Amino acid sequence: MDLKEKIDPDKLPSHIAIIMDGNGRWATSRGEMRVFGHQNGVESVRQTSTAAAELGVKHLTLYAFSTENWKRPKCEVDALMNLLVLTLNSELGTLMENNIRLKAIGDLAHLQKNCYAQLIETIDKTKDNNRMDLILALNYSGRWEIAEAARRIAAETAAGRLDPEKVDSELFEKYLETKDIPDPELLIRTSGENRISNFLLWQIAYAELYFSPKLWPDFRKNDLYEAIIDYQNRERRFGMISEQIKPVTDK
Ligand code: IPE
Ligand code: IPE
Ligand code: MG
Repeated sequence: MDLKEKIDPDKLPSHIAIIMDGNGRWATSRGEMRVFGHQNGVESVRQTSTAAAELGVKHLTLYAFSTENWKRPKCEVDALMNLLVLTLNSELGTLMENNIRLKAIGDLAHLQKNCYAQLIETIDKTKDNNRMDLILALNYSGRWEIAEAARRIAAETAAGRLDPEKVDSELFEKYLETKDIPDPELLIRTSGENRISNFLLWQIAYAELYFSPKLWPDFRKNDLYEAIIDYQNRERRFGMISEQIKPVTDK
């Protein structure tokens, strides 16, 4: 039985988020420039997106560029931005064939102009696709997102348009970048690093975390299946005890 068949379609996460990490190490271990790793990571994005869409996952969020990544050497940042533009262009066919709608979260207005323009164009061209949303986190940082939500809420209350008493977590979520997207049930990070690196801090409150030793350019459909099977074998208690969440079995 292949791995895909071991996945229970009734227990599929509706939203999977991935911290795609390890491109640089993948390249340097081959004596290549770091950008070679980023280039090879595109195939992993293609495989993971199509595998998730085929399974029936509704939302896939990929951490593509963090706000902190601007601190990298300029040549690497430029190479990443160029690759983004090229990939958005070249992968339009894959997105259309697989009926995938592109979205993006992050401080998009501060991306380089050509990246922003290409991003908006691809988002627009795929807007009527409805099998799965592929959400790119670009110039994204969880703390930025939360602080931005707080700033906008404060502005609304200062203007008298929002009663501070009404601010609760349900309202707060409406000010986040992910306002129409359910929280990820499964968060995957590749490359063996066991940290979150400022990704979806609010949204992963109850996500199952899965750390894969594979470097991102080596990540393939079967690695995604393995992560989902692992997730499906966990008990998600949300603060309750086991007995409260076990399905009632027929006597
Ligand atoms: C992830 O791979 C891609 C981005 C952060 C843009 P890295 O570039 O972080 O690769 P490592 O972690 O240095 O190997
Ligand atoms: C996280 O990876 C950001 C992305 C995958 C886009 P990093 O490689 O930037 O994270 P750190 O620096 O190891 O925490
Ligand atoms: Mg890294």
